[in-house]
Amino acid sequence: MAKLVGVFAASHGPMIVRNWSTLSPGWQETITAAFTELGQRMRAARPDVLIEISPDHWVNFFIDNLPSICVGVGETHEGPPEPWLKDFPHRKIAGHPQLAGHIVKTALELDFEPSVSYRLALDHGFCIPLWKAGLEPLPAIVPIIFNDLEPPFPSVKRCYGWGEMLAEAVASFPGDLRVAVLATGGLSHSIGEPTMGEIDEAFDRACIGRFAAGDPLALIDFLNERLPSIGNGAAEIRNWVAAHGAAGGRGFELVDYLPVPTVIVGCGFAAWRLTPASPRRAAPARRRPSARPRRSA
Ligand SMILES: [Fe+2]
Repeated sequence: MAKLVGVFAASHGPMIVRNWSTLSPGWQETITAAFTELGQRMRAARPDVLIEISPDHWVNFFIDNLPSICVGVGETHEGPPEPWLKDFPHRKIAGHPQLAGHIVKTALELDFEPSVSYRLALDHGFCIPLWKAGLEPLPAIVPIIFNDLEPPFPSVKRCYGWGEMLAEAVASFPGDLRVAVLATGGLSHSIGEPTMGEIDEAFDRACIGRFAAGDPLALIDFLNERLPSIGNGAAEIRNWVAAHGAAGGRGFELVDYLPVPTVIVGCGFAAWRLTPASPRRAAPARRRPSARPRRSA
């Protein structure tokens, strides 16, 4: 049977790539260190297949056809379509139609109604974390697109349920597969609205605290209360909620949180616990860059 071997989250802020040359050396170092550590943890999990949860940024869908949640069931996907991602060149990316199809079947049996696509383009939301975390050669990817861009959004509670269902689908897949989940996006940011460029660091840290604590109901209540008044990009935290559900709501270890002004996103990186944490055991110390830039950098 398949086994869930890791659950992770990473920012996919496009300015990480587009504005890289304008970032201070300190920010470049800390962003690189966060992606590198996350990538090391993901490679250590040795996934054969990565279920990747990201929004679509108007590449596959628009307001004339905007699925709430869409599973990529194709043999291959392609991407990234953005020309500024030229250092992660456009290519065919292997899918895993057997696991993807099993996820869809499981979803329908459990009263979820996903859309499906046999031909998805994987934009920067999928590809920046794959690239920056150094995951090449890539595992097979099962992409799942959550609508985090344009209301009506799937509810926070439903996103958590999706994660629980994904874990169930992995556990019941009749094949010897190691499967990891990677949620991308968030944390706070604003796109195309008056608060564009602002990062709500207080919200982000409160949000991280609730993910880390591992209490799903408290997390859902917190997000239901706060998401409507945070920048529109924070809707992508729904993807993290699905990851939380896949991990059984056990909470996560924060790899890093980087409120990078030039990136205009509160960038978070995390790895969930898949076994209950021992309260007596402190988290291992992480190697950090010696000179962490301040927000004004
Ligand atoms: Fe995004």
